[in-house]
Amino acid sequence: MAPSYVLVTGATGFIGAHIVDVLLSHGLKVRGATRSLAKGQAMIDARPKYTSQLDFVEIDDFERTGVFEEAVKGIDSVIHAASPFTYDTKDNEKELIIPAINGVKSILDAASKSDVKRVVITSSFASVLDADRKAPPYFTYTGKDWNPLTYEEAADPATSAVIAYRGSKKFAELEAWNFIKKGDAKFDIVTLCPPMTFGPVVHPVRTVEQLNESNAMLWKIASGHNPLPVARVPFWIDVRDLAKAHVEALLRPEVGNKRYIPAAPEGFSYQLAADIILKEFPWAERTVTKTTDQVIDQSHGLDGETVTKELGVEYKSFKQTVVDLVTQAVDLKRNSTK
Ligand SMILES: NC(=O)c1ccc[n+]([C@@H]2O[C@H](COP(=O)([O-])OP(=O)(O)OC[C@H]3O[C@@H](n4cnc5c(N)ncnc54)[C@H](OP(=O)(O)O)[C@@H]3O)[C@@H](O)[C@H]2O)c1
Repeated sequence: MAPSYVLVTGATGFIGAHIVDVLLSHGLKVRGATRSLAKGQAMIDARPKYTSQLDFVEIDDFERTGVFEEAVKGIDSVIHAASPFTYDTKDNEKELIIPAINGVKSILDAASKSDVKRVVITSSFASVLDADRKAPPYFTYTGKDWNPLTYEEAADPATSAVIAYRGSKKFAELEAWNFIKKGDAKFDIVTLCPPMTFGPVVHPVRTVEQLNESNAMLWKIASGHNPLPVARVPFWIDVRDLAKAHVEALLRPEVGNKRYIPAAPEGFSYQLAADIILKEFPWAERTVTKTTDQVIDQSHGLDGETVTKELGVEYKSFKQTVVDLVTQAVDLKRNSTK
């Protein structure tokens, strides 16, 4: 049976809000889950055309499991995009790893007690990447690759939030695959492992300071951060393409229990972002740091093509993504200083 009423977790977040919009434009009913109904109401208020198709439920923080039992009632499919994504932490295991795992556990437990037929999970390239794998020879990451990080390494209090975030995504995704392996689920899953995601925002953001972690990097460059940040990996995707991949992963029956890496074919560096901003925005001459020392790492690739073939997603160019986000951020800045 085709999906008709979809629960989207993280619906008020950067990626989740785009997913909500694609679902609504397909005529589907959407229930967003959020810890703050005020943010949910702001999403509804910004979409007057869709008030009869969109509702929100309040959920607790993922610190405890069992938060989705009420939220799945009447729902036939789920897109689980919520997970803590911040590098501003005091206790990585408590703030990143445990909530990410508990979020997946809760949604799958709730789904198994309901009529849900498919759960699409936003994992991350962080659960694919092997930071010690070096080219040559040239290699391509695919949906079969897994980050070799152990739980102990990720949760070590001495490690960085970046490593802990990678662990949070790996162990949360593994929780889902282990659930399916047990064989008694009445639904299937699809996991998506996108790299850095950039692009315009459609969730409730009033100031540039409220931009999500990945877009905040592009705004830092536009507003003169010196030196330029250095990309840890050269892979990225536009948020609009990623949202489409989620919805296609929900709508296509044949892709059940598959793992994909949605990613644009073009590599990026923050210098490339700076060069685009300099070329496209005349004011950037006064702010953007000029450098020529960042080289895009082309020593290995990743398989974004399977998503094009099996989910029908064509990728936007980095230029379009950067220009669209910076244009919007300039407006946000202007409005917030009025
Ligand atoms: N942005 C990227 O570059 C990128 C790349 C790859 C994968 N991802 C993954 O994509 C998903 C969405 O990321 P995003 O960039 O859209 O982040 P975001 O804007 O921070 O949105 C994440 C949402 O998750 C919910 N959430 C976070 N921590 C939670 C907790 N402890 N308990 C309950 N809900 C919680 C929040 O919803 P409420 O505040 O409304 O409750 C938040 O809006 C995440 O799974 C992330 O790991 C992101």
